[in-house]
Amino acid sequence: MTHPEPSSATDQLADSITVHVNLAERSYDILIASDSLSCVAPTAESWYMQRFPSKDGQRSALVVTDRNVANHAETVLSSLVDAGWKAELEQLEPGETTKSLDVISRLYDCLVAMKADRKTAVIAVGGGVIGDSAGFLAATYGRGVPFIQVPTTLLADVDSSVGGKVGINHPAAKNLIGAFYQPLGVCIDTSVLTTLPERDYLSGMAEVVKYGVILDADFFGYLEQNIAGLKSRDPGVLRHIIARSCQLKADVVEQDEYERTGLRAVLNYGHTFAHAFEALAGYGELLHGEAVSIGMLYASRLAEKRGLIDADVTARQRTLIESLGMISRLPPGSDFTADAILDKMKLDKKTVAGQLRFVLPTQMGHVETFGDVPESDVRAVLAELA
Ligand code: GLY
Repeated sequence: MTHPEPSSATDQLADSITVHVNLAERSYDILIASDSLSCVAPTAESWYMQRFPSKDGQRSALVVTDRNVANHAETVLSSLVDAGWKAELEQLEPGETTKSLDVISRLYDCLVAMKADRKTAVIAVGGGVIGDSAGFLAATYGRGVPFIQVPTTLLADVDSSVGGKVGINHPAAKNLIGAFYQPLGVCIDTSVLTTLPERDYLSGMAEVVKYGVILDADFFGYLEQNIAGLKSRDPGVLRHIIARSCQLKADVVEQDEYERTGLRAVLNYGHTFAHAFEALAGYGELLHGEAVSIGMLYASRLAEKRGLIDADVTARQRTLIESLGMISRLPPGSDFTADAILDKMKLDKKTVAGQLRFVLPTQMGHVETFGDVPESDVRAVLAELA
């Protein structure tokens, strides 16, 4: 059996960008390339050789995917099988209900049936639901097996596949059962995004815009100057924005891997409003990123009201969001009352002792957490933007 070296894999990776996530012995690479799905095997091989230098026995993997992206998972599977891996594919139902103990239990059975050992990789090919479930599987089977993410949505590329939080839902709450478990590596292929539905693509773009506002004014400027490339999903523009977003999230995660210092909270910009809107609209009605793009504009307006920023900072966000074709206001018919929105916000896990906490910009490219925002200011913003 041969294990091809990464260098034999080539031209497809010629324009790739690697983001290194520095987490001591849990450090890993995020490889961002175009047309790279058929290179997953040599890429995974190079990661294995770094983590487990002795090359003993046959490589094996369980590829976990959902029906919507099974074609991409087949490409990954072929790459592995052609390189001599013993690999199997398990296809799950798309959607949030897949993040359940029943599904995980079935996946444990698959690993047992294929006689998986501690070096058997779990490879997630899909969006956040698949990454979170397969990551939880990898974190718990045999007390942890190598986990490789191959995200297939923009949201998963820039958000859910970076950070190490994996998990499943409990009927009482989303993501209640989970772990911090860093992957062996993340392999992002921008060409997969060419077939992503527009609504999902723009939903992922909300998190990209968020990184500019919270951490990098120059990056926000890059987005403003590359509307056409962003809309046409230009591979070079995509590689750049995905790599920069991953780097910015990685910088935060490196400083607060286990969500203990509060630093990770900056990533929640727009999310206090967004979670309330999502919950009131009914999950799935308003996509997460849609709620985030609207939520950022509410949070920014709140920052203006608190005297933290000039109106120009909000105006730039609104112009960028609207120029990209993203949703900037709640859909018609979303007549949520301020009381209902505030009630949902108070249930949010970021709320401490009933006190509303908001991540607000103090300038373009910088945010801070505020635990002293008067409810009257929130009500005023809700009334104004309703
Ligand atoms: N998996 C997403 C995060 O850790 O933030």
